Amino acid sequence: MNTYAVVVLAAGKGTRMRSTLPKVLHTVAGLPLLAHVLNALEAVPPALSINSPLPIAASSRPIVVLGYGAEQIEAAFGDRCSYAIQAEQLGTAHAVLAARKNVDELDPLPQTVLVCYGDTPLVSSQILARVLVEHVTQQATLTFLTAITEQPSDFGRVVRNADGQVSEIVEMKRATEKQKRIQEVNSGVYCFDRTWLWSALQTLPRNASGEYYLTDLVGLASSQGRKIATVTGTLDETIGINDRVQLAAVEQLLHRRILEGHMYAGVTIIDPATTYIDNDVMIGADTVILPGTIITGKTRIGSECHIGPGTTIDSSVLGDRCIVHNSVLEETIFEDGVRIGPFGHCRPGAYLARNVRMGNFGEVKNSYIGPETDMHHFSYVGDATVGEQVNIGAGAITCNYDGVRKNHTTIGAGASIGSDTMLVAPVTIGEHAVTGAGSVVRHDVPPGAVVAGVPARILRMSQPSDASATEDGKKE
Ligand code: UD1
Ligand code: CA
Repeated sequence: MNTYAVVVLAAGKGTRMRSTLPKVLHTVAGLPLLAHVLNALEAVPPALSINSPLPIAASSRPIVVLGYGAEQIEAAFGDRCSYAIQAEQLGTAHAVLAARKNVDELDPLPQTVLVCYGDTPLVSSQILARVLVEHVTQQATLTFLTAITEQPSDFGRVVRNADGQVSEIVEMKRATEKQKRIQEVNSGVYCFDRTWLWSALQTLPRNASGEYYLTDLVGLASSQGRKIATVTGTLDETIGINDRVQLAAVEQLLHRRILEGHMYAGVTIIDPATTYIDNDVMIGADTVILPGTIITGKTRIGSECHIGPGTTIDSSVLGDRCIVHNSVLEETIFEDGVRIGPFGHCRPGAYLARNVRMGNFGEVKNSYIGPETDMHHFSYVGDATVGEQVNIGAGAITCNYDGVRKNHTTIGAGASIGSDTMLVAPVTIGEHAVTGAGSVVRHDVPPGAVVAGVPARILRMSQPSDASATEDGKKE
């Protein structure tokens, strides 16, 4: 079968970003630019033969050409790609040549080399497939992607002769006034015949800017009478990010695309203008997202939830029918029916089981909270295991840190923790035990005991039904 190698150029510093971070590691929709490009490449069907008699398949993982910040990029992407090094950045043609050894070592040897840039995060797998299929069908020496735009800005202009044949790509810097008005631009996705590519790259001269431009291969192929094919996509797919203004523009476009995906899949988004959802977030149908909500990381949210307003959720998993109101969740798990807020904060390791209710100004960290437990008003639970149907009164706190260690608190099922109780960890409160308002609990409390005072002492042993009757542990 005809195979193709993939070369992604990512060696440039991205001078126009004015950043120490390599350009392709800047993120949009929560993912580095290069990750978006790799996602699109990996989503190209493994063997393409649509409208083409000749199937074509990727011969290997993408070969990413690195230079500035190489170690940082390799650390971020690991085995997902193989790497070639362009030690000095002398232009996009020079960068492709840096990958020659990697390509020539592939077995079977690919006939085609697909080249794209690591700074074009909106490129889609569909358009990449179209370029590949066109290249094979046309048996072209060179095929590239173009777009038509009324604002060609700094894109390379596609120059065609009187019969509409491509004669060259002229970079903005070197374009004449007439060429600057050309509305067909170079998107930066190319397929080359491998044999021709290597010989052409070797003869390509440095241009007036002292660089070797990949785009100059188009003029070369045309002057040799080689077959050049083009595919025209949309401008969106083309946008390469060179500075932070373009980064923000793409962020907006991508966000809109992500939000629309969720809306078409049954999620209500009340105000798309103030809602930000990362690329990898999953949301169930009939969930409503209210204004001012930011959902990031690999968060998964179930169906029929109400999220927001004013809520931030990162890398968390929520079941169905949860309500999150003006709250912040980080690396948190909610089972079905959990309600939090307004103004709750769940920090990493918080696990709230079915139907937990967590009220105003509560904070949970690295703790399991059992089903049907209520935790209202200004309470803090850290490094704790809380059973089911516990009532945690206003201002109750686990004193989990003794200045050296984080200590564990266990609260048994059905216990009632009175307002302003200080649970000085490590400590265990038995099932159905009750602590009075303002108790400072330094020692374990046996099941069913009622304790109060500073330090807390046992007053009596209660019946399980007493728990809901005490003044300070009142159920809402
Ligand atoms: C390039 C094209 C332009 C096209 C635009 C589309 C060239 C000369 N111009 O311009 O026609 O319209 O993309 O987005 O190709 N790189 C290297 N090594 C180098 C130089 C660049 O790996 O020596 C990498 C960069 O890291 C970047 C990519 O190649 O990911 C493109 O380079 P960039 O400088 O952004 O090219 P543009 O000016 O955007
Ligand atoms: Ca660019």
